[in-house]
Amino acid sequence: MMYRLVFTQVLRRFDAEAVHHRTVRGLALVARLPLLKRLLHRALAPHDPALRITAFGVHFPGPLGLAAGFDKDAACAEAVAALGFSHVEVGTITAHAQPGNPRPRLFRLVRERAVVNRMGFNNAGAPAAARRLRRTRGVPAVVGVNIGKTKVVPESEAAADYVTSAKELAPSADYLVVNVSSPNTPGLRDLQAVSLLRPLLTAVKEVCDSTPRRTPLLVKIAPDLADDDVDAVADLALELGLDGIIATNTTIAHDGPTGGLSGRPLKARSLEVLRRLRARVGDRLTLVSVGGVEDVDDVWERLLAGATLVQGYTGWIYGGPLWASRIHRQLSRRIRRHRLTSITAIIGRTAPADSRRTDPGSGEIGRATSGSAATDRTDPGSGEIGRAAPDSAEAGRTVSDDSR
Ligand SMILES: Cc1cc2nc3c(=O)[nH]c(=O)nc-3n(C[C@H](O)[C@H](O)[C@H](O)COP(=O)(O)O)c2cc1C
Repeated sequence: MMYRLVFTQVLRRFDAEAVHHRTVRGLALVARLPLLKRLLHRALAPHDPALRITAFGVHFPGPLGLAAGFDKDAACAEAVAALGFSHVEVGTITAHAQPGNPRPRLFRLVRERAVVNRMGFNNAGAPAAARRLRRTRGVPAVVGVNIGKTKVVPESEAAADYVTSAKELAPSADYLVVNVSSPNTPGLRDLQAVSLLRPLLTAVKEVCDSTPRRTPLLVKIAPDLADDDVDAVADLALELGLDGIIATNTTIAHDGPTGGLSGRPLKARSLEVLRRLRARVGDRLTLVSVGGVEDVDDVWERLLAGATLVQGYTGWIYGGPLWASRIHRQLSRRIRRHRLTSITAIIGRTAPADSRRTDPGSGEIGRATSGSAATDRTDPGSGEIGRAAPDSAEAGRTVSDDSR
């Protein structure tokens, strides 16, 4: 309520990108103040053991993370985690620093609860981000690193460019994401074609597999892929032994300013792609759902449809600084109302029967606040937050974030 007033009366009168940079600078300052950071973390981060999720060997304190594009230079990830996000995906980071597209390049569509951006991967480059990521963390924070192609690099050298970024960043990432789906770098989305994607992912995976803790590797796809192409990328991810797929990036299917559209209008297609992926891969890959997530109902629905993790960005812009913390609290209440002991019990419950990972039983868990209860059949996991040692993910032996 308070935030809505501040947003409508103050923030929306300022240029969207200027507000963004001020917010990042403010959070970067918080990230450098250990006491404040810890206080915020204690008050706002998810601490409910029932919300914990282990995916690809990494322990997450809850399902809802911040999507790529906010913390492009890994400047404030810990502060973002302290505000209640279970993980922060930094980037997109490119091998070489680049300024991005000319301004204006970020537009709010307030009535639609949406944003259009054509930022074009403005970032300070992989070496600068790697230095920041190597700093010791003061609060537990799961940090994924999203990498993309440097604009001036031709398609024929794309794999080598991604490999350069991966070598810099994979060692300090909790997971790495190959982004081939942003609409604002010419030709980038063409890399989603399996013939180009196979050599690219193979090369990056080799780098990830060679880090001391084997960095998990995911690929992020566009909502504008044809359904057959979604299937083809899913099959490729399985074939290459990737850890997961992030779906989806922004869409170019809209009538607004040139760029990628995010927020409410993306919700239906993002959910559709998730359902298609789940039907194709079941629980053999970790699915991370992003696009149009606005509230606890959306997070619940994505989990039911088979996402293990959920991300949001535009929802945070309109929902305010406490958005993620609030949703995690609401999730805690909801799983208790359903008499579950772990949120993992609902993952994939509304997916087609052959793609469910556990016996679904007969209990119905509706999208919102249906009164039905179900029995928890899945081990909630006892791990701390952060990377599990590669050979002992299930035993919950963790490598402390502070040790990096
Ligand atoms: C301003 C802005 C910048 C973004 N930059 C990136 C980016 O650099 N890399 C990326 O993979 N996704 C980027 N995204 C896409 C988001 O990560 C996310 O996939 C998309 O916005 C859909 O989620 P949402 O509807 O919750 O915003 C950006 C989104 C926005 C709004």
